Amino acid sequence: MAAAGVSVGKGMAVKLEAQDIRLEYYQPRTDTRLVALDRVNLAVMDGEFVSIVGPSGCGKTTFLSVVDGLIAATSGRVRVNLARALVMDPKVLLMDEPFAALDAQTREVMQEELLQIWLQARKTVLFITHQIDEAIFLSDRVVVFSGRPGRVKEIIEVDIARPRKLLVKREPRFHAIEDRIWELIEEDVKSRIAGTPNSEISQD
Ligand SMILES: Nc1ncnc2c1ncn2[C@@H]1O[C@H](COP(=O)(O)OP(=O)(O)OP(=O)(O)O)[C@@H](O)[C@H]1O
Ligand SMILES: [Mg+2]
Repeated sequence: MAAAGVSVGKGMAVKLEAQDIRLEYYQPRTDTRLVALDRVNLAVMDGEFVSIVGPSGCGKTTFLSVVDGLIAATSGRVRVNLARALVMDPKVLLMDEPFAALDAQTREVMQEELLQIWLQARKTVLFITHQIDEAIFLSDRVVVFSGRPGRVKEIIEVDIARPRKLLVKREPRFHAIEDRIWELIEEDVKSRIAGTPNSEISQD
């Protein structure tokens, strides 16, 4: 994890940079290590809204915890203290499925509100969700994680101007992005379901 004042492209600065992040959890019961994240690379620009989507258990929350300095990466972290200081910057918001408990209609309204607040405050946001349309609606870029071990499979740019209204979700260009992301996730979700007892599959 490194922080940099590097200017990239159109005068934008990198706010957070994850380089080759690997995270293993030790499992005492079986005396084995579970690789939650492997070679995760991601740069988030100053003021950018970036979402992460991926199958359940692929390491999204783990990645946010690494970014937040709550747990240390097994390898790949550079300048940890600096990264920690950066994440403490209130201009960086880390949000892990904040709307998961809301009913569908309230959730839509909250998405619109969050977007309005973000437009005014221009904070850098790293946002996790299972809902592909939520990720697209909110984000500049959607990062698609692979199944475990989590890795950046692809990053999709959302080329839709702001302000965005909820109705944009009904437009063909929005559906095209949704289809592309689902295409990337589908196989990993299916193989996860195939390898998991029904009782352990979460409902969301
Ligand atoms: N403290 C821990 N000790 C051991 N294994 C863990 C721990 N926390 C998470 N794991 C395992 O690491 C993997 C990644 O978990 P994580 O919670 O980061 O995934 P996630 O993508 O956030 O999942 P979800 O979409 O269900 O929220 C999972 O297999 C999980 O069981
Ligand atoms: Mg999670």
